[in-house]
Amino acid sequence: MKYAKLTIASEFIKGKIDKRIYGSFVEHLGRCVYGGIFEPGHPEADENGFRLDVLDLIKELDIPVVRYPGGNFVSGYNWEDGIGPVKDRPRRLELAWGTLETNEFGTDEFMAWCKKAGTAPMMAVNLGTRGPDEARQLVEYCNHPGGTYLSDLRKKYGSDLPYDVKLWCLGNEMDGPWQMGAKTSVEYGRTACEAAKIMKWTDPTIETVLCGSSSWGMKTFGEWETASLDIAYDHVDYVSMHQYHSNNDNYLENFLAKGVETDSFIDSVIAALDYVQGKRHSKKRIDISFDEWNVWYHSNGAEFEKWSKAPHLLEDVYNFADTLVVGTMLNSIINHADRVKIACLAQLVNVIAPIMTEDGGKAWRQTIYYPFWFASKYGRGYALQQIKDTSKYDTRWYTDVPHVDTSSILSEDGNELVIFAVNRDTEDEITLETKLCDFDGFRVIEHIAMEDTDPMAFNTKDSEVVKPVSKALPELDGRIMKCSLKPMSWNMIRLRK
Ligand code: AHR
Repeated sequence: MKYAKLTIASEFIKGKIDKRIYGSFVEHLGRCVYGGIFEPGHPEADENGFRLDVLDLIKELDIPVVRYPGGNFVSGYNWEDGIGPVKDRPRRLELAWGTLETNEFGTDEFMAWCKKAGTAPMMAVNLGTRGPDEARQLVEYCNHPGGTYLSDLRKKYGSDLPYDVKLWCLGNEMDGPWQMGAKTSVEYGRTACEAAKIMKWTDPTIETVLCGSSSWGMKTFGEWETASLDIAYDHVDYVSMHQYHSNNDNYLENFLAKGVETDSFIDSVIAALDYVQGKRHSKKRIDISFDEWNVWYHSNGAEFEKWSKAPHLLEDVYNFADTLVVGTMLNSIINHADRVKIACLAQLVNVIAPIMTEDGGKAWRQTIYYPFWFASKYGRGYALQQIKDTSKYDTRWYTDVPHVDTSSILSEDGNELVIFAVNRDTEDEITLETKLCDFDGFRVIEHIAMEDTDPMAFNTKDSEVVKPVSKALPELDGRIMKCSLKPMSWNMIRLRK
């Protein structure tokens, strides 16, 4: 018998949700920038070349922070190539992805775009082919008010006011052999330490993110975090995590279970960070920036023309099953709100993204757009500590996978309770029975679901078949709420006082 029981109380708070967990990521990769957010000449483009149809979809997602310009791209990037008169900017071979970078879009364009999108920039610096000096110069260009060569250059190029970029990533995936300028943990720890130190001397108000290992599966994982963090501890504020799930072997039950690996990965990173804190007898706690996460596998092996500008790269077309996995990853991030302070859905447009565009044509929502949209809109406030009791299943890879995965959020004013629930079971409807310990006066106001769909169904520019629907309200009898969750469904239940 499959079942799911949840007990929550408004006083049992796991952590305040930092709104930056609903961040995203724009890399100079494929058609994310060129043909994604930026397409001069498109009928919907503004005077800057920013696509307004894309901006509308992005604004709906209410993304507080966007990481830029990479990703692997940043490890070979000269930020100076992307400023000044566009006609003078160099065209370069982009070695991370084997494409042509024209530099028509650079730091100043990104800052202007962020303003228009209502988001804040999270900049990454090149610690691959370059180092601390170029990094602190970029901080000076962006954040110093004026009266120096670089800050005056920014003024000359159009921005009198500093950009005031608060968040800075110290390179990207520096333990990956695919990374330009990859390093050992000690080499990276030293470089990142010195970069962060002088970046903070340039602007003491910034926060820095040390690169964690590129993935949980890396041989370097663990030793990398502890060794590099121990070296750079005094100058960094967060350590990054990256995770992408795939269904390469076409094994649905196993794929739907992958969120458990997100939980374990986050727990392992927390353990590594706390170990270093303890070892150093430090009062300072380091938190997590989960600055790349998503499902990524559909586009693997896609061919493209080498050294071409903005080819169709990493253009995963997401299906309904991916929506469920994204829903469980969001639950995991919310359930770790006490330690995950930043998270970036990778990426934003076209490249493993919730939004797709056609060159010169339409923009549309992929299936994974929706769980992110609902989480960003309703998943703000406090993550509640949940007592969960649900039946479980095993796959070849995982054991004890909960059939139902949930997160529960109390709004900041305490008047709204939101439960996100994914039924992973492929066959049976399961009743989620929630005991609401102290939510007197709350009534159910909404049940939205994504369900009853072929797991392989996807959206196209002309047909949005995978989308949320409104459901009959679940019954609330005293303190017990019962809500039926269809097999393979994503659900949001809202209650208000
Ligand atoms: O998001 C795509 C790529 O995935 C990024 O460039 C890199 O950081 C990661 O490996």
